[in-house]
Amino acid sequence: MKKIKAIFSLMLFSFGAFAQSGNTNNGSIWDDPILLFYVTTGFMVVVALLVIAVALYMLQVMRYMAKDTAMKQAKKAGVEYVEQPGWWAQLNQKLYRYVPIEKEETILMDHSYDGIRELDNHLPPWWKWLFYGSIVWGVIYFIAYHVTDSLPLQTEEYNTEVALAEEQVRKLRAANPGEVIDENTVILTTDATALADGKEVFNNICASCHRMDGGGDIGPNLTDSYWIHGGSIKEVFLIVKNGVPNTNMVAWGGALSPEKMQNVSSYLLTLQGTNPPNAKAPEGDLYEPKPSEPVVGDTVKI
Ligand code: HEC
Repeated sequence: MKKIKAIFSLMLFSFGAFAQSGNTNNGSIWDDPILLFYVTTGFMVVVALLVIAVALYMLQVMRYMAKDTAMKQAKKAGVEYVEQPGWWAQLNQKLYRYVPIEKEETILMDHSYDGIRELDNHLPPWWKWLFYGSIVWGVIYFIAYHVTDSLPLQTEEYNTEVALAEEQVRKLRAANPGEVIDENTVILTTDATALADGKEVFNNICASCHRMDGGGDIGPNLTDSYWIHGGSIKEVFLIVKNGVPNTNMVAWGGALSPEKMQNVSSYLLTLQGTNPPNAKAPEGDLYEPKPSEPVVGDTVKI
């Protein structure tokens, strides 16, 4: 009884916590939907287990009462009470249809090898039905997957899922422009905080090859209008992300987040036209932005 009381008070307590979660918005742990989901599910499982326990107990009581009545009736009628086999014994008998030891002679085969005899036992029905079932299933499977092609095979299923996921990504991107940054959505940011972050990244990891002022050393000059791979934000972003194979310019896509790559790309474009002393000679072609593109170098200088 004490245990039940404890469980009930625990339930009441969690109800109290739920009630609280409704009117506190300042970062209570109940705001986490996953936690709420687990707690609710856990609560429901506990309730379900309790209901099942009570139901089993009632069933036991009813069985006991039925047995008691049957015994009394048998006594009244003056016959001996024979207990019915339980459901477990009945199920076992159905599944195995075994021949009881007393009747074993009926299935004894008439050969004997050095006194070793053999029983002609049948296969257990559960096994036989599983076997027949697998044959039937095999036929259905073959027809459905290979004859009528009405159900998708693994490759098809895979392709459908990939297409579905791609569609979801496309929708997500359409709904949150700029949130998923890649070469298609990258922008030349003019946000001062983002550019400051870009500058920090540049000075920390890019300056060793491109110089702090972008004048170029192992890597090319990034301050002139000549680019080997193009000077649009999209092209710069792609080079930063994927690198240039067989050169010292490695891919930074694994080390830097898309946002950081957008920041550093935007920052290095602010160095356009700064003409630092002893800069490297131009490499590549003169880059002229298309009219639709943001003008490089025309961003906030920091
Ligand atoms: C280990 C040296 C090294 C480091 C570090 C380095 N780069 Fe480079 N970078 C190069 C070289 C070399 C090239 C020229 C590649 C080629 O020949 O195409 C290059 C090319 C580039 C280009 C293309 C230039 C053009 O003319 O098209 C950009 C943009 C660039 N780097 C940005 C960055 C940024 C941003 C970082 C830091 C995240 C960085 N690099 C770090 C060596 C480096």
